[in-house]
Amino acid sequence: MEPRDLSDHVPYRAGRGIEEVARELGLDPEELVKLSSNENPFGPSPLAVEAIESTAGTVHTYPKAAHADLADALASEWSLDTEQVWLGPGGDGVLDYLARAFLDPGDSVLVPDPGFAYYSMSARYHDGVVKQYQLSKDDGFEQPSEMVLDAYEDQRLIYLTTPHNPTGSEMRLEDIERVAHETSEETLVVVDEAYGEFTDSPSARQLLDERDDVAVLRTFSKVYGLAGLRLGYGLVPNSWADAYDRVNTPFSVNLLACHAGLAALEDREHVEKTVSTVTWAREYIRDELDARTWESGGNFVLAEVGNAEQVAADAQREGVIIRDCSSFGLPECIRISCGTRQTTPRAVETVNEVMSE
Ligand SMILES: Cc1ncc(COP(=O)(O)O)c(C=O)c1O
Repeated sequence: MEPRDLSDHVPYRAGRGIEEVARELGLDPEELVKLSSNENPFGPSPLAVEAIESTAGTVHTYPKAAHADLADALASEWSLDTEQVWLGPGGDGVLDYLARAFLDPGDSVLVPDPGFAYYSMSARYHDGVVKQYQLSKDDGFEQPSEMVLDAYEDQRLIYLTTPHNPTGSEMRLEDIERVAHETSEETLVVVDEAYGEFTDSPSARQLLDERDDVAVLRTFSKVYGLAGLRLGYGLVPNSWADAYDRVNTPFSVNLLACHAGLAALEDREHVEKTVSTVTWAREYIRDELDARTWESGGNFVLAEVGNAEQVAADAQREGVIIRDCSSFGLPECIRISCGTRQTTPRAVETVNEVMSE
């Protein structure tokens, strides 16, 4: 017996975990600096940790009320109806729900290259066909609407990422709107704002008031520091919001995640500390790293270092884990996540040292 033909499917390659690397190097995980997965260097919101602890004793129940409460809280935060908030197990899970709701077998989707790998993985899981649009290094990875429109051939889904992973570039709201306006009414533009809290640019949420062909993706994995719980959400137009009930995996967001999410939303202090440190660290990396870097709206900076695989391996030997961007099709680039005021300088110093060896 065999699974269906999966030859087109590419396994997801996540950044390596701190425990894994510590074991390999025979080091204490405490001695390592991990700036490879755009995680929150301050850890989870302390209010979320309290909520998880106090919820632990009730995980024998299904998360019905908690799910509804979290959707309500997000709806009020974004001034939308509760139905318009699609909760999912991470932003990744929400991408799956959108693909389930929109793709018929053989439908085509348009994804960025370089870009976040899960768009095409999710589309393929749902029998979609993947086409790419190119972000060009020579143009500073800028994202004008023409870049997408020139590649567009009546795709059913278009994925835009702003701020973009791994380059950090942003797409202006006018350009997003133009993509939505100039493509078919049957094309959904998915605006991935996983890093949206780290930029002052406006969210594409405001397009949902006038358009029914735009959806916005957000996550609790980054600014709220809850990546390990897997919690994300989509904001979708009213007219087809009810499709959620027909595509979601029941109780897809677990009880701990629901309560932690509710608490994290209240923890303004943790969010502000995270955002202000990221703003500082982005500048620090760009100023102090002896390499070409690009302006970033996210909690990371892309840098051109020559042989990224070598630089990442050498830095790892010194206890600093950064992301080699070869898997993004940028074998000359690394991506450094923003750390704290202690770990960021250590990472920059280490990368500078290994580059000069
Ligand atoms: C651009 C982008 N979108 C979505 C996600 C999904 O995040 P999660 O599934 O943890 O919510 C990530 C995670 O790194 C990302 O970089």
